[in-house]
Amino acid sequence: MKFDTPAGTNPIDRLKVVGKPTDRIDGPLKTSGTARYAYEWNDVAPNAAYGYIVGSAIAKGRIAAMDLTEARRAPGVLAIVTAADAGKLGKGKFNTAKLLGGPEIDHYHQAIAVVVAETFEQARAAAGLVRVDYTRSKGRFDLVEGLKTAPLTGGNSGEGSAAPPVDRVGNFERAFAAAPVQLDAQYTTPDQTHAMIEPHATIAAWEGDELTVWTANQMVDWSRTDLATTLGIPKDNIRLVASYVGGGFGGKLWIRADVLLASLGARAAKRPVKLALSRPFMANNTPHRPATVQRVRIGTDRKGRITAFAHESGSGDLPGGQPETAVAQSKLLYAGENRLTSMRLAVLDLPEGNAMRAPGEASGLMALEMAMDEMAEKLGIDPIEFRILNDTQVDPQKPGRQFSQRQLIECLRQGAARFGWNKRHLKPGQVREGHWLIGQGVAVAFRNNLVVPSGARVRLDATGTVTVETDMTDIGTGSYTIIAQTAAEMMGVGLDKVVVRLGDSRFPVSAGSGGQFGANSATAGVYAACVKLRGVVAERLGLDAAVADFADGQVSVGGRRIALGEAARSGEIVVEDKIEFGDLDKKVQQSTFGAHFVEAAVNSYTGQILVRRMLCVCAAGRILNPKSARSQMIGAMTMGVGGALMEELAVDKRFGFFVNHDLAGYEVPVHADIPHQEVIFLEEVDPTSSPMKAKGVGELGLCGIAAAVANAVYNATGVRVRNYPVTLDKFL
Ligand code: MOS
Repeated sequence: MKFDTPAGTNPIDRLKVVGKPTDRIDGPLKTSGTARYAYEWNDVAPNAAYGYIVGSAIAKGRIAAMDLTEARRAPGVLAIVTAADAGKLGKGKFNTAKLLGGPEIDHYHQAIAVVVAETFEQARAAAGLVRVDYTRSKGRFDLVEGLKTAPLTGGNSGEGSAAPPVDRVGNFERAFAAAPVQLDAQYTTPDQTHAMIEPHATIAAWEGDELTVWTANQMVDWSRTDLATTLGIPKDNIRLVASYVGGGFGGKLWIRADVLLASLGARAAKRPVKLALSRPFMANNTPHRPATVQRVRIGTDRKGRITAFAHESGSGDLPGGQPETAVAQSKLLYAGENRLTSMRLAVLDLPEGNAMRAPGEASGLMALEMAMDEMAEKLGIDPIEFRILNDTQVDPQKPGRQFSQRQLIECLRQGAARFGWNKRHLKPGQVREGHWLIGQGVAVAFRNNLVVPSGARVRLDATGTVTVETDMTDIGTGSYTIIAQTAAEMMGVGLDKVVVRLGDSRFPVSAGSGGQFGANSATAGVYAACVKLRGVVAERLGLDAAVADFADGQVSVGGRRIALGEAARSGEIVVEDKIEFGDLDKKVQQSTFGAHFVEAAVNSYTGQILVRRMLCVCAAGRILNPKSARSQMIGAMTMGVGGALMEELAVDKRFGFFVNHDLAGYEVPVHADIPHQEVIFLEEVDPTSSPMKAKGVGELGLCGIAAAVANAVYNATGVRVRNYPVTLDKFL
């Protein structure tokens, strides 16, 4: 089904199942420990051996010699694979550095060998016996140093939204110089790691030339394709299964060393191999969100109208890598005739930088929304009023282009009323409760809505049960449930009559989970398949599909009512279709919006920061399941508290690695750090996004939240910290 004109009325609009706050259909499986994650397919690979990765101990250089003698003799060892004996490997599209390094080393903890043994402990012990002599060369590990000579570089965030190196409208320099009120400030954001609960993990099993991998992955088809390219085998020989995924945040968009090395280890050992990355490998072996240095300049007239606006970002990556597109939102968020955005990319020999939840915007809004707060203060205007004054209903770079929906002002106004914004002092450091300084902060949430082709297969049996199969993944987001809701709505059955099977390359290729495009795109694919199924059902029952009503497990036309399962009486009906998007998203700008409100308390003696209240009001098209969408939002808001106050990979600039490579040293919020959170979704349907009229929220909630926290801390204390995370030492 091609979707190229705005959606008219369709069966989804009945909203009997879709749009209702529905419990996760996979909840019982997860809470009872019976949902199978990658490492848990013991029954299908009962005799699996264990793989353990050896990571490079240097960041840059060469392996001069490798001695495997002792390791091979260790108890239980079945095989050891290195680049020297892995055969010729290709390079997938999505990894910058090789997943199996050697003899050249590209970054610290790049995999250089896998040891396969009977038990995990034996594999780990033997891995410790692999002797490696390195020739170290000088690496580049300092972003600030690298940016001094870094070229302007375009690129994308890893999910398909590309940006040129420089974008200009009007004459920024002239307008900025002439502006009576100016801000010119630099902000930094640190490297961050995904830190999802389930590490990267794979079980690989060969049967002849055919390989099956059960793995933790967000994008089944991309990863299957990359694995085939890397191994140099036909894609058809690979089955990739990712039924349940314990968080991804972008770290599992592509295959990583676990998938490749489990596959190579299994081939060498002639046994299925289980391999999970340890926490230290998560930080240094897999990609991370790159640090940024961002300069924001804003010039306004005396009333606060933006006349000149510039956002320039610099980040680093391995040779051949991509810049962090931290200026993405700055092209679209606020008005202003003279604009400049640009990106620079420094070559660094640190582990690979890549997509992490809301790549681009998450980092970009940390800077931009703090700058907006600072500018409002310079102007003596309330920060909400300053944003409203500079709202735009058209793309400020392409004035003919409208936003499909843009309720940003509504988000700000409703949020302000609900949060008690009128109690906030414009002047910082004014509110005290005992030892605590209290402040409120606001920031805008913004994230684009991408649409991605997505396929699904639907089956109907004689009992009236509808089964959906698609390679879409559920990374904790609620995909199982919204897909079940979609099929139930379309076929007029209850959720108890729907079965959903996900995350298997034997199913039709879907949008996958990334870039907050999964929910809308994948359900739209299920919608398309169900439209086709309705047609076949009507035909079998001798009814006119155009007027047939599907409800309560029955199909009816006029007075005739037939049980849905009757259509499949002579055999199961199986149909498949795919939603394909025309260029509707190019004709109108599709984005999601929100406003974050935070109240923070800062201890005036110790500098300890407590987040006391959080509210997000957002507008993101039709909300398919308010319960799981709320979970996405509060999860993202929690992550944003980490981004504002805690998260930072510490770079060892001498040796080129991330020092705090575990959850003891890399801090993320825990329950005790997070207060009551409130989320309000504004009424919205977007007929230009898909037949579902929905958009994504998975990343929106992270966008802007860190700045809202930092702005609240500033309002409490009067101390402006422009280098994230905002930690108490920076108040001194
Ligand atoms: Mo996202 S960073 O596309 O998982």
